[in-house]
Amino acid sequence: AAVFLKDYKVPDFLIDKTELTFDLDETQTVVTSRLHIRRNPESDAATAPLILDGGEDVKLIGVAIDKYELPKEEYNVSNDKLVITATPDAFILTCETLIEPQNNTRLEGLYRSSSMFCTQCEAEGFRHITYYLDRPDVMSVFTTTIIADESRYPVMLSNGNEIERGKTEDGKTFVTWHDPFKKPAYLFALVAGDLEVLNDTFTTMSGRDVALKIFTEKHNIDKVDFAMDSLKRSMKWDEEVYGREYDLDIFMIVAVDDFNMGAMENKGLNIFNSSCLLASPETTTDDAYLRVEAVVAHEYFHNWSGNRVTCRDWFQLSLKEGFTVFRDQSFSADTHSDVVKRVEDVSFLKTAQFAEDAGPMAHPIRPASFIEISNFYTLTIYEKGAEVVRMIHTLLGADGFRKGSDLYFERHDGQAVTCDDFVSAMEDANGVDLTQFKRWYSQAGTPILNVTDSYNETTQTYTLNVSQMTPPTPNQPTKLALHIPVRAGLIGPDNQPLSFTVDGKEQTEVVLHVNQAEQTFIFENVASRPVPSLLRGFSAPVKLDYGYTTDQLLQLMSGDVDGFNRWSASQQLAVNELLNCVQQYQAGKDLTEESSLVSGFESLLADSTLDSAMVALILSLPSQAYLSELSGVIDPHAIKAARKHLRLLIASSLEKEFKKIYEANTVTDAYQASAGQIAKRSLKNAALSYWVASGNDEAKSAVVRQYRNADNMTDQFSALSIIVNNQLAEADDLMSAFFEQWKHESLVVNKWLMLSASREQENGLVQIKELMEHPYFDIKNPNKLRAVIGGLGQNVETFHNLDGSGYAFLADQIILMNKRNPQIASRLCTPLTRWKRMESRLSEKMKSQLERIASQDLSKDVYEVVSKSLA
Ligand code: ARG
Ligand code: ZN
Repeated sequence: AAVFLKDYKVPDFLIDKTELTFDLDETQTVVTSRLHIRRNPESDAATAPLILDGGEDVKLIGVAIDKYELPKEEYNVSNDKLVITATPDAFILTCETLIEPQNNTRLEGLYRSSSMFCTQCEAEGFRHITYYLDRPDVMSVFTTTIIADESRYPVMLSNGNEIERGKTEDGKTFVTWHDPFKKPAYLFALVAGDLEVLNDTFTTMSGRDVALKIFTEKHNIDKVDFAMDSLKRSMKWDEEVYGREYDLDIFMIVAVDDFNMGAMENKGLNIFNSSCLLASPETTTDDAYLRVEAVVAHEYFHNWSGNRVTCRDWFQLSLKEGFTVFRDQSFSADTHSDVVKRVEDVSFLKTAQFAEDAGPMAHPIRPASFIEISNFYTLTIYEKGAEVVRMIHTLLGADGFRKGSDLYFERHDGQAVTCDDFVSAMEDANGVDLTQFKRWYSQAGTPILNVTDSYNETTQTYTLNVSQMTPPTPNQPTKLALHIPVRAGLIGPDNQPLSFTVDGKEQTEVVLHVNQAEQTFIFENVASRPVPSLLRGFSAPVKLDYGYTTDQLLQLMSGDVDGFNRWSASQQLAVNELLNCVQQYQAGKDLTEESSLVSGFESLLADSTLDSAMVALILSLPSQAYLSELSGVIDPHAIKAARKHLRLLIASSLEKEFKKIYEANTVTDAYQASAGQIAKRSLKNAALSYWVASGNDEAKSAVVRQYRNADNMTDQFSALSIIVNNQLAEADDLMSAFFEQWKHESLVVNKWLMLSASREQENGLVQIKELMEHPYFDIKNPNKLRAVIGGLGQNVETFHNLDGSGYAFLADQIILMNKRNPQIASRLCTPLTRWKRMESRLSEKMKSQLERIASQDLSKDVYEVVSKSLA
């Protein structure tokens, strides 16, 4: 059954204090809760029963009101609720429950990962621990006592400060934690295990010392220095850019191997998927370093945007996630190169979020309804949500935005609020009206901007005609006009920015406020016919359709002052050529041997003034996934052939240039995850990849040499991938050598699993099945499952096999995981949700697998995605 935003009601009861005791044990864990409950004065239901949430996996032993043990007739336990009809207006509810963390395969609530106990409570995991008002607008002060055998669990952690420690009568150890800040249950956390710690301190802007602790299993403690450094830089950045200071005396992070998502911002005790925390040069690629830095920052920033000010209900999820993603993106941009960061974020958005917007699960950043909230931790909520916050930043400017965020934090500190509250603070602090802009919160789908232009030489006026249209999405057949900020400038024939007059002001860049279905913008005093540079910095999450000629794109690529649009032009050029090749392939023609990218890349590679990271980004052709998103009807085999053809064409035409770039970009200093080094490595490896693709023998020896001599994972794994993807003779041997070298490093094994699964070979599916039987594979570990299934998804021949075997295999895994871990099972469905857009032969095969899944007894998670996809 779906829940609806419009049905929101304040809770009938509040829980002022929550006292929890966990008696941890390998076979059963007893949880005792003492909840200080009172009726909510704001509720209009003065005699409403107390209805607590609880999972089927929670066994109730006893319940008491104040000291009165309730007999069975006075309460009712169903699958997921505990109902007590008659209660006083204020009372202490004591509840004893039994749970089995060791059998918790959902990884929600309290579970075991390796040798430790840990929790994941967002969004609705706390109900798998004990009965509770498990909703974010019920905020409580938590005191938590953990009891365990100290020899096996010397480290016992929860939120806030440790206030007491001692021995129980039966010789176990207890530790009590108290968190002075009111919080919803989704921010609760507990960890117990035999862990190692890295200690550090941070002095806040007001001069308070905060103890920083990162915990891992013993063998990983040498890989958290970078995370600690990232944490300290994040703390400083949030003080400088947002004026936000940390509030407790201690901040802890724990790495766990089995985790459904990336990480979790529990108050004072963040829990991380180890893939988002551990880093060392030998085992971690540059990309993964940047991810660690971004996720550490993201979770830390949640302390204000999420914890001090939280969400009223889960429809408001983007309130904290969109804002916090915007904050972590800005942090990374300030730390490294802002253009490179923007390009990476935008390509991700345009590839994956645009696809979501065009599919059966499309939803606004503030959904109107859902069946299972876990399905809504989406790219729309996170990435498009961040774009919406970024547009507010563009509209108000940096200072105006800061005024707005200051007011938001001040006004709502300690509260659970809505997206409307966020926008109101922005409006009130700046005296602006964002009423129309707020449609971005309620309207799904990616708007399309159609732009045409004309130039009048006599009057020196240049006119842009802009129309906007948002395609229909499920339950939203018609759309209203949005307020879309379009940053724009004009480029002259000599590749110089042209000045113009708009609103009586001479300028070189303007923000056009597109806010009607059709609109005209006039630029005066334009000296000559310009090339428009539109949507600079990707100022709005829209599809822009202008109809640039190849020459205009080449001009923007080399001449635009906006670095982002230089990249964007190069991508558009490549997209045009690739889609052209796709058509030729489908028509059974020979693919063209002409490409303007060859000369474009040639001048790019010759220009030593350019940022190497940007050059590397421009060299990487639009991905299989992005081209699929752009296709009306998706033909994976044609897209693959087109990409391969164009790559080879470029590689063979510019063989010498790639060799030169490869040799010129060797990093000789000790490894650092610095912008400068990362840029060099990315360009070097991009060049190597083309050079090897050209078939040159010298290149083949160079890549094998790089594999053998590399002192860091970026270079080693790039070389290995190139060797495997180009099917060099050494591929088998080096894949085995790589596994042998790294089999003790779980995260590196995941990379090996992924590359093995994506490898194109005869009998691809047999290989995949063997991987899942491999002794180092573990289906209980989401990272390992994602590695293999993710690799399969990239393996076009195997996954999109015309006989449907790839889809059937995926469906088998979904059915298997449905019961075990519904969140993971539901995520695995994503490729199948695209079935309507696939070419007809594949479409039918995908659909029949969805129907096969639908015929099973499904979790809410999988049911929602599959039923919406088939609707
Ligand atoms: N709030 C976390 C973050 O974005 C994500 C937790 C998601 N958990 C889940 N079960 N869906 O940092
Ligand atoms: Zn988050």
